[in-house]
Amino acid sequence: MNSIEVAPGVSWVGAVDASLEEFHGFTTEHGTTYNAYLVHDTKTALIDSVKAAFSEQLLGTLEKLKVRPNYLICNHAEPDHAGSLGELALRYPEATVVCSKKCAPVLKRQFDTSNWKIQEVSTGDRISLGQRSLEFIETPMVHWPESMFSYIPEEQLLFSMDAFGQHLATAQRFDEDLEWQLLYQEAKSYYANIIMPLGKFVAKTLKQVETYPVKTIAPSHGVIWRKHINEMISAYKDWCICRPKAKVLVLFDTMWGSTEIMAEALAAGVTDENVDVKLLNLRHQTLTDVATEVIDSACVALGSASLNGGPMPMLAAALSYLKGLKPTPRQGIVFGSYGWDKACAKYLQSCFESMQWKEVSEPILSRYNPDPDTLEKCRTTGQILAAQATQVAKTSN
Ligand code: FEO
Repeated sequence: MNSIEVAPGVSWVGAVDASLEEFHGFTTEHGTTYNAYLVHDTKTALIDSVKAAFSEQLLGTLEKLKVRPNYLICNHAEPDHAGSLGELALRYPEATVVCSKKCAPVLKRQFDTSNWKIQEVSTGDRISLGQRSLEFIETPMVHWPESMFSYIPEEQLLFSMDAFGQHLATAQRFDEDLEWQLLYQEAKSYYANIIMPLGKFVAKTLKQVETYPVKTIAPSHGVIWRKHINEMISAYKDWCICRPKAKVLVLFDTMWGSTEIMAEALAAGVTDENVDVKLLNLRHQTLTDVATEVIDSACVALGSASLNGGPMPMLAAALSYLKGLKPTPRQGIVFGSYGWDKACAKYLQSCFESMQWKEVSEPILSRYNPDPDTLEKCRTTGQILAAQATQVAKTSN
């Protein structure tokens, strides 16, 4: 049985999915959890559910607890949280499914809801469970248009759905039981890869959240926040505007090593100025790592060997991924080696343009292997990027 007390009368009844390796493009190296919560009172409410593959586990937990929920709260219709709703509605036909107005039609596309009792709610609506009540807050586009948070005023407990989540499968349910740095990194990676394009909606949601007294934030993935609530909200304020740090990201793919040597010379130039630099060789890093590093890098250097009139495939994939995630505009340069066709540089420059990124200097190109002058140019350009990153970070604070 998976049941852990979160607050008086509130239990976690979710599922840990340690074997998950991928979540729509996100490389989930550490698996995830699908957090469902049970509020026990005169009436009982189940907050969200679990991915369909874990339905039996959730139903088994409710069985052992001898609970028949009066309410099935659907904060978000995405199948990692609503996937068991069909089974739950079948097992508990007397339960009322509670969701936002925009959620009801989405559920109708996913399930046969003809026999469901559905109650649509808006921001500020409340349902009394007895001693406790549930209040609802619509949070459109965090993560889907139909999404909402639920809140128990009596416990100052916010069910924040995908927001503040982490793809982290762990036996620990609370933030105080794990290292802050680990949790910060996991929450950052989650935000960068799932939520980044929705920054303006997140900013609005953060303003709403600040009007509620909160002792506990219970997201739908990862650990529950009790100790680091203020730090996590502060991190979200930075991430929702992709606030840049004095940091340079050097992102490259290489064919025979020439572009790699240039990337290393650029990184050495950044280090000369004591500025943080991250060197990502896309042959060995995931797209997930790219998004996580871009979100707070003031400057980005994009490098690739020329291949068939464009960049190497992994760099093209990274750029396609980044365009969708829409980080706020960065500054940087284009670099790389070529043999007889400079079209790759033009391709990378067009990516800068389409993302409204600004080039701080002309591309650095090397015909075949870079000579000492080219490497020196890479190094001095790294120093220029470091100075630019420092300036950008200063003005963004
Ligand atoms: Fe965890 Fe938007 O689903």
